[in-house]
Amino acid sequence: MILRSRHLGAFAKSTQLTSGIEHALTKPGIRAALVLFVFVSLYTLYGFRFFYRDPLSIFFSTEHGYDRFYSQTREAEALTFLDHAAAARSDTPQLGGKAGDDPSICATFITVGRNMSVAGRREYVDAAVGSALAKLSRAERAALHLKVFFADVPDAAAAHDSFRTFRDRLAARDAGVLDDVYTYDDTLPELVKDQRLDVLEMLATPSRGKSLYDYGYALDRCVETTNASYIAVFEDDIVLADGWVARTLAHLRGVEEMMRDPRRKDPTKGVPAPGQANDWIYLRLFNQDRSVGWAGGTGFRDNNAHVISAAVAVPLLALLVAGRRWCLPRRRGAPPRRLDAAGGVRAGDAAASLVPQLAGVREEWFGCCNQALVYNRAHAPKLSTFFMRRSRDKQGGRGDMLSKDFAWDHGLSRLSAYPMLAQHVGVVSATNTTAEEAQQIWNLAFENFRPAKLAKQHVRDVREIFGEEAARELLEQQRHGT
Ligand SMILES: *[C@@H]1O[C@H](CO)[C@@H](O)[C@H](O)[C@H]1NC(C)=O
Ligand SMILES: *[C@@H]1O[C@H](CO)[C@@H](O)[C@H](O)[C@H]1NC(C)=O
Ligand SMILES: *[C@@H]1O[C@H](CO)[C@@H](O)[C@H](O)[C@H]1NC(C)=O
Repeated sequence: MILRSRHLGAFAKSTQLTSGIEHALTKPGIRAALVLFVFVSLYTLYGFRFFYRDPLSIFFSTEHGYDRFYSQTREAEALTFLDHAAAARSDTPQLGGKAGDDPSICATFITVGRNMSVAGRREYVDAAVGSALAKLSRAERAALHLKVFFADVPDAAAAHDSFRTFRDRLAARDAGVLDDVYTYDDTLPELVKDQRLDVLEMLATPSRGKSLYDYGYALDRCVETTNASYIAVFEDDIVLADGWVARTLAHLRGVEEMMRDPRRKDPTKGVPAPGQANDWIYLRLFNQDRSVGWAGGTGFRDNNAHVISAAVAVPLLALLVAGRRWCLPRRRGAPPRRLDAAGGVRAGDAAASLVPQLAGVREEWFGCCNQALVYNRAHAPKLSTFFMRRSRDKQGGRGDMLSKDFAWDHGLSRLSAYPMLAQHVGVVSATNTTAEEAQQIWNLAFENFRPAKLAKQHVRDVREIFGEEAARELLEQQRHGT
């Protein structure tokens, strides 16, 4: 009996609870709160699942946000290629060979020795240069003059772990894969060498002045030693995507076409608006995600992140309020407005994730960092002098900022190519950047590349730029996995 009444008691309690919940659910305020709770929860789950790699989203995860996908695959390919090339016997001609007689692009990597024992890794330049060469077609290799500049003073061999391999094996006269490996020591004119090296040593510490000089010097070397129409200057801590040469040449065709538009005019000093100048300074192959151009620049989108967020949030809020009107009985219960607003603002916040960058070349008046820029040869000599003078006068400034100033002063366009073909992978900095700052210089789209898709795009680009024969050869090469 006792047992039974206990059971009955529990039963009565649970029915009481159920009817309590039912009673609560008849109240529209509580129903609305529940619907919103579910909506916000689902949205939050969605955000954590899909926006955790977007540094502009509130869902960004510091733990997994910078997870590497394609750049890791590509780095492995690059190192495999480089190690094979370095180990090859000096009498076996390397696949791809060297540049032809009339290369279109002179590309130069600038590298300085870093203390890699901290990170327990190889020098970054190995993967960077490997990624410039791995899986290139023969036609592309002929169109590319590839240099590596070891910028340490006074003695690059002592300061840089990779120097010997690059100089003695990869740039070997007969079987090498690089067109040129150089240092200050072997390129400065004898007359000024000692004095110039002293100045450079002084610039090297502690400011960043020397890297600016290095940059100008690298530009100048390409101008002095090749007739290439385009000069690519690459930092050593990047990885380039498969097919980057043909893709870049296709982009450059687009740039030249754009510049021929009759509505464009001769560069005028100080022309600030995009779409006007008929001449250009550089094409950007790397941009960091934080620079989406919603700050700085001249267009509406460029300075109105808050307005745009509101433009997304307000209609969403209106929709929610309208939805409540239609779906719930009128007159009763105040809506939980704060929750509504929170949902709206969150949606606005993630707008950057929802608006991906369209593929192609376009003028952009923002962008960060000079990890990978392709310059118009026509302006390279002046720009190079400008950089070296600024560095020697210790006026300082960052390379990318100064190119912007230069472009602005001469009325030249700056362009970006999407999706970006280079990724920044350096964490151990040669300058005084912290690992955390370095990590944020990052491009998400690069990590989303699919190797198989890139390979197909590569063949299409080679066909477009170099013709059917070259494309067929590349297909053959891809089949054999070299
Ligand atoms: C590199 O860093 C390690 C650890 O911080 C230090 O012990 C070593 O002396 C450094 N080497 C050079 C060449 O600076
Ligand atoms: C390098 O960074 C540290 C910490 O951020 C700072 O204290 C130091 O002054 C910097 N050194 C130079 C040469 O800029
Ligand atoms: C560049 O072009 C000039 C003139 O056509 C020629 O004399 C020179 O040899 C070329 N330089 C190189 C490095 O090909």
